[in-house]
Amino acid sequence: MHQGALPDLPFPDRCFDAAVANFVMNHVGHPAAALRELRRVVRPGSRIAVTIWPYPLPPLQQLWGQIFDAAGGRRPVVMHKVDPARDFPRTAEGLTTLLADVGLGGVQCDTITWVHRTDPEDWWSGPANGIGALGMLMESQPPEMIVRIRETYDKLTAAYRGDDGLLALPTAALLASAVVA
Ligand SMILES: C[S@@+](CC[C@H](N)C(=O)[O-])C[C@H]1O[C@@H](n2cnc3c(N)ncnc32)[C@H](O)[C@@H]1O
Repeated sequence: MHQGALPDLPFPDRCFDAAVANFVMNHVGHPAAALRELRRVVRPGSRIAVTIWPYPLPPLQQLWGQIFDAAGGRRPVVMHKVDPARDFPRTAEGLTTLLADVGLGGVQCDTITWVHRTDPEDWWSGPANGIGALGMLMESQPPEMIVRIRETYDKLTAAYRGDDGLLALPTAALLASAVVA
């Protein structure tokens, strides 16, 4: 296995037949530089595929924020934001433009929608165990607030709970692909 971090991958030019960045562009500080690096390592005529969460956020992605706010949770965690000069609109048009502007051709972008089905305890357990940005937020709350967040979680997720006990959470992503010239 090889490891590397965009925008500096430890690979020679044109060494791959394709590149996939599945929900990775949401995390990089310089999206255009990251895409230029993917373009560098992929052979001409090959494809790059990218997914990101869209904005406005779909219901699934909004729900945790709604739960925190309704519970009265504090948001002391300073999240790193992309420099506005390097950011792009999280829309089909914004993602298409980003790919085209780094010199990729044949850009296609679709919004894909699906329903994420999950056990309410599973969906709670990630943030409750400190995973990801939500987990950092949870860890910064006092114990009594965790109790309140859990009560609010049960209340606000009830609307999404089916007869089988699972949550059915509507969500969406932008899926773009392009060809390296
Ligand atoms: C939401 S996860 C998606 C993981 C995986 N692609 C998937 O679809 O399950 C975001 C991923 O972006 C990766 N990531 C964040 N910053 C990165 C960077 N600068 N270069 C490469 N990968 C990065 C993280 O390591 C993490 O695996």
